[in-house]
Amino acid sequence: MKLTGIFGRLALTNLILLVLISYFIIYVFHKTEQINTILHEVTSVHLPVMGDSEKLISAVQRMNEFRLKYQVTGDRDFFDRFAGFKSEADSVNGRLAEVVMGKSKSDIYDRVNELYTAFSEMSESQINGREHNYAETNRQLEDVSFKLDEHINLLKNTADSEWRSLLERSNRMVGKVVHKSVLFMVSCIVGAAAVAFFNTRTIARPLRKLGEKTNEVAAGIFPDRFSLEAPYEIERLASDFNIMIARLKESREQKEEFVSNVSHELKTPLSSIKEAAQMLKEGAFDNDPESSRRLLDIIDAESERLIASVNGIIEISRLDINDAPYEMKPCSVGRILRNIVTKTEPIASGKKIAVVCDIPDDLPDVSADREMISRAAENLIGNALKYTPEKGEINISVKKTGERLLLVSVKDNGRGIAEADLPHIFERYRRGRNQQGDVKGTGLGLAIAKKIISRHGGEIWANSRPGEGSEFLFTLPLSF
Ligand SMILES: Nc1ncnc2c1ncn2[C@@H]1O[C@H](COP(=O)(O)OP(=O)(O)OP(=O)(O)O)[C@@H](O)[C@H]1O
Ligand SMILES: [Mg+2]
Repeated sequence: MKLTGIFGRLALTNLILLVLISYFIIYVFHKTEQINTILHEVTSVHLPVMGDSEKLISAVQRMNEFRLKYQVTGDRDFFDRFAGFKSEADSVNGRLAEVVMGKSKSDIYDRVNELYTAFSEMSESQINGREHNYAETNRQLEDVSFKLDEHINLLKNTADSEWRSLLERSNRMVGKVVHKSVLFMVSCIVGAAAVAFFNTRTIARPLRKLGEKTNEVAAGIFPDRFSLEAPYEIERLASDFNIMIARLKESREQKEEFVSNVSHELKTPLSSIKEAAQMLKEGAFDNDPESSRRLLDIIDAESERLIASVNGIIEISRLDINDAPYEMKPCSVGRILRNIVTKTEPIASGKKIAVVCDIPDDLPDVSADREMISRAAENLIGNALKYTPEKGEINISVKKTGERLLLVSVKDNGRGIAEADLPHIFERYRRGRNQQGDVKGTGLGLAIAKKIISRHGGEIWANSRPGEGSEFLFTLPLSF
């Protein structure tokens, strides 16, 4: 994954957002836990401490009340009521011992417990008649219960102020979480918008430029090669676009060259024919049958050249527009070559040229359109016969090469090709400078052969030395 690509950029920015959101969720979760702990402490410690403190104060007061009433009246009912409140005070005091937490409250509670124990024991001993000096014990009990009341109130107030401060703390935490959530959401929206803006800008801008270039091409203007600073996918698109423009330019130039070549190729023989016909019509050589005959020969030869040109033009145009798709079938190149040799035998024997074939019988088939390969090979063998003088020799060989290729060679010991012409002989209408005069041709044969071989996935090339001969080679992929 390239980070300079569209996918890479989107993935990276989304990942960053995802990490931030996850971090924030963990933060909110952690804070909620803290707030929960505080609320739990308040409900399980502070509120019970406050409630039980109230209850203990009231029970102690009631114990005092019924102890004194019993003292005065000796009524057994007051004694029982005293005992009831004492057991309530005992149990409340026991509960307080369980719920009180924290250093400050524990210290106060220890003192409360001490005072309560003293108060409870003294009250009990007095009401049970173990104390006889009532006035003294009453004074002492009053003193202890006053201190006890004071300390229970202190415990209650401490719990009260503590739970208020805890609530304040939890409120502050909630406020902080809300504040941070809002801040986080706003920054996320702003960040996501900024990233989206940056991403769309870096993608949209080069795409717009590409669109402008496409419009130029649609209007028939081929822009110069251009480069874009963009994600690599768009850069690749731009580079493909440049290749496409280069090909379009090339094909337009080829078309222009083709039109000019065609018109030249057709005009030249037509002018000669017209000129000769005009002279015959004017009776310029009426009394000279020999010259008249030469004019007729010119008309005949130029007509043939014209027909050959027109046929060549039609053939290469068909190949260009690919109007007849190839029928690819396994076929034997050896058989194709032998057929051509048989067909051209009269020409070879007319020029006393020896055609030597080195074509093994067990060659594998190639996947090809028989007709088309035959046309390509015929052009090569035809050229060899055409450009080799009398008593020359042509060697045709086929062999397997590479992994899955057949290599065909057509070699002659004819006049060869000038070094300057060799790189251009496969171009349309290119004829070697030495051939133009004596050997007739349109300069299309090799262009046609090249087109056919390329369409079969093969390659074609030539080696030659002027005066020593030429070798034309092509490869074809084997059929599976
Ligand atoms: N075997 C060869 N020996 C020497 N020159 C050759 C040979 N084959 C091709 N050439 C050179 O290459 C040029 C192009 O060949 P190509 O077959 O395309 O055209 P052509 O033979 O001139 O005309 P045609 O269209 O009738 O084939 C020829 O004009 C010739 O100069
Ligand atoms: Mg030719």
